[in-house]
Amino acid sequence: MGWSIPFNKPFLAGNELAYVAEAVARGNASTDGHFTAACSRVLQERFGVGRALMTTSCTSALEIAALLCGFEEGDEAIMPSFTFVSTACAFARAGATPVFVDVRPDTLNLDEARVAEAITERTRAIVPVHYAGVGCEMDAIGSLAERAGALVVEDAAQGVNATWRDRHLGAIGQLAGYSFHETKNYTCGQGGALCVNAPELVERAEILRDRGTDRSRFLRGQVDQYTWVDLGSAYAQSELLCAYLLAQLEKLEEISALRAGIAGWYRAQLEPLEERGLLRLPVTPEGARTNHHLFYVLLPDQATRDALLAFLADRGIQAVRHYIPLHESEGGRRFGRWGELHVAEDVSRRLLRLPMFNDLTEGEVARVARTVAEGLGTRSAG
Ligand SMILES: Cc1ncc(COP(=O)(O)O)c(C=O)c1O
Repeated sequence: MGWSIPFNKPFLAGNELAYVAEAVARGNASTDGHFTAACSRVLQERFGVGRALMTTSCTSALEIAALLCGFEEGDEAIMPSFTFVSTACAFARAGATPVFVDVRPDTLNLDEARVAEAITERTRAIVPVHYAGVGCEMDAIGSLAERAGALVVEDAAQGVNATWRDRHLGAIGQLAGYSFHETKNYTCGQGGALCVNAPELVERAEILRDRGTDRSRFLRGQVDQYTWVDLGSAYAQSELLCAYLLAQLEKLEEISALRAGIAGWYRAQLEPLEERGLLRLPVTPEGARTNHHLFYVLLPDQATRDALLAFLADRGIQAVRHYIPLHESEGGRRFGRWGELHVAEDVSRRLLRLPMFNDLTEGEVARVARTVAEGLGTRSAG
């Protein structure tokens, strides 16, 4: 279906295609060249990440992070059920049992009170997911992890260039993953980064990312040939994609401002509907600076959400649901363990994401908001 307003659209910030051509001209289109180093530098210098290793996706970053946790049989990793498949799959593959806990009703982020209840002597990792680019309560989560002797692995797929108490998401836990998939704020089609903030994990992270070899040591001239050292895979992002991505990372603040503008238009248009109890808008708590990754609304019930989704689709507007809670999925049931997850179950049935991309216009936002208002049986959103 050709949407008149799609949910997402690829975006060119300016220099992407020129940088891809430059990568070819420089004679290295594979990995770990000029553009890879430049992207890593931006993440390290602008966000305070210890060591940023560019990866093929956030999924691969999480897979490396999970291997670095060194799980033994019976070990557990605490995470929300309201998240993307990769959060849990990466940890299950590495031998841990994903322990699903509920999310907070305000931010839809991992509920730190529920984390405290779920910790056992087998807890080795806590995996906060920064939903919609709003930071989790990292102080509370960090203290709980420290007391349990567990690592904090941030799933910051959606959290690039957002902060929690003035620290960038992805630079807080010992490990973190970023996503540069097409739907994210800064993209290269598909890509990611592993953030290694614990210096003692850097060397093994490099090996796991590079097919299990010590090629990074070779590139630094520390060994004269590289060879197989450990488990690993081809997790490094191509120079061509890093070239594309760098053009977007060079526009960190411009893109951030565009998204803040779009979120502001949505909010102004939809607040009257919220005041009338027809929907609920995203919540950003004190301490968090969001990157406006998503703009979602929570409807009163599933029937209203599904009817609104169809109403918007009939009018050419592509809105989308989000996660099926993982404990309700086949993989989640097979690999995970969980207790009560009422909030995750409830919000997954009521949540609708509205179109959000960097060059969405004020007129398009007004049209989406007007159509939402009509769909909810009111004449106008404003
Ligand atoms: C919370 C979360 N984790 C992980 C991922 C996986 O990211 P990628 O597509 O870069 O593998 C996503 C993707 O949308 C996500 O939303």
